[in-house]
Amino acid sequence: MRLSGLKNFEIKVLAERCRVNIGELLNLSSLPKLIRNTIQKKLKRLDYPLAYSRGFCFFMNYKFFVSNGVFIPRPETETLIEFALNEASHFWPQVKILDVCAGTGALAIALTLELKKKGFIVETTLIDKSTRAVRCICKNLQVYNILNSRVFKADLFPRNLNESFDIILCNPPYLKKTDFRGSIREEPIRALVAKENGFYTIRRFLIRVRNFISENGFILLESSNHLVPNIKKLCEDVGLVVEQIDSLLGVCFLKLTA
Ligand SMILES: C[S@@+](CC[C@H](N)C(=O)[O-])C[C@H]1O[C@@H](n2cnc3c(N)ncnc32)[C@H](O)[C@@H]1O
Repeated sequence: MRLSGLKNFEIKVLAERCRVNIGELLNLSSLPKLIRNTIQKKLKRLDYPLAYSRGFCFFMNYKFFVSNGVFIPRPETETLIEFALNEASHFWPQVKILDVCAGTGALAIALTLELKKKGFIVETTLIDKSTRAVRCICKNLQVYNILNSRVFKADLFPRNLNESFDIILCNPPYLKKTDFRGSIREEPIRALVAKENGFYTIRRFLIRVRNFISENGFILLESSNHLVPNIKKLCEDVGLVVEQIDSLLGVCFLKLTA
C-alpha cells in the first residue's frame, strides 16, 4: 500500500518524525481519508517542528505540553533560569516569581520546580496575551501540580496586578519582521516579531515593569543584540540598571535592577 502523493524519502522522514516504523506508518491508509489527508499534509512540510507533531517539548529537562500556535521554548533561554537559580538565595525562604510573555509557561514553571526542590515556598504568576498560550500554561501548571499560581490573559501587566515580585522573567517577541524566515515561520508571528524593529513589546514592558519589582528583586530579560542600545537608553530614563549576563548567537540575556 502507498501513502499517495508522498515520495519515498518523505515517508522515511515522516516515519522518523512520528517515531514509528514504516510498516506502522503504512497502516495510516486504514484511517479515514480526511484524517489521513490532514496528517499527510502536515507531515509533508518537513520544517514542521517536531514539538508540534508530538505535542510536547523539553525545557530544563522538564517536559512541557505545547500546541500549534504557541512558541516552543528554546534551550538558550535556560541561561536565564540557571542565572535566577544562582541568585535566588537572597529571597530565602519565600520567593515570588512573575513571568511576562510566558508562552507555555516553561520558564516560570521550571524555575518554580527547581526552587521548590531547594525547599523554597514559591508563588508563581504568569501572563500571556494569547489564548492558546494561556491554555498551555494552565495545562502545564496542572501537570506539575503547581497550586500556588495565577495565570492572566493580558497585554503585559493586567490592571488588577498591584504587587511586587522578586524575580521577573520576560522573553518577549523581539525579532524584526525581516528575521521571520526559515523554520520559525511555523510558529506564531506575534510570539516572535514586534513592531519598531523588534522593540515595541520590550519598550512597553520597560516603561511599566519598575512598579512590580520588590526591594531586592530583579528582572531577567531576553532580547536580541541589536536592541541592547535602545534597552540601555530606556532603562536609564526609567531608572533601571542593566547588567549583561550572557550573549549567544545574537541573543542577549540581561539582568535589570531598580
Ligand atoms: C518569544 S515567546 C516566549 C515564550 C516563553 N517566554 C518562552 O521563552 O518560551 C513570546 C510570548 O509573548 C506573548 N506576547 C506577545 N506580546 C505580548 C503582550 N503584549 N502581552 C503578553 N504576552 C505577549 C506571545 O503570545 C508569546 O507567547
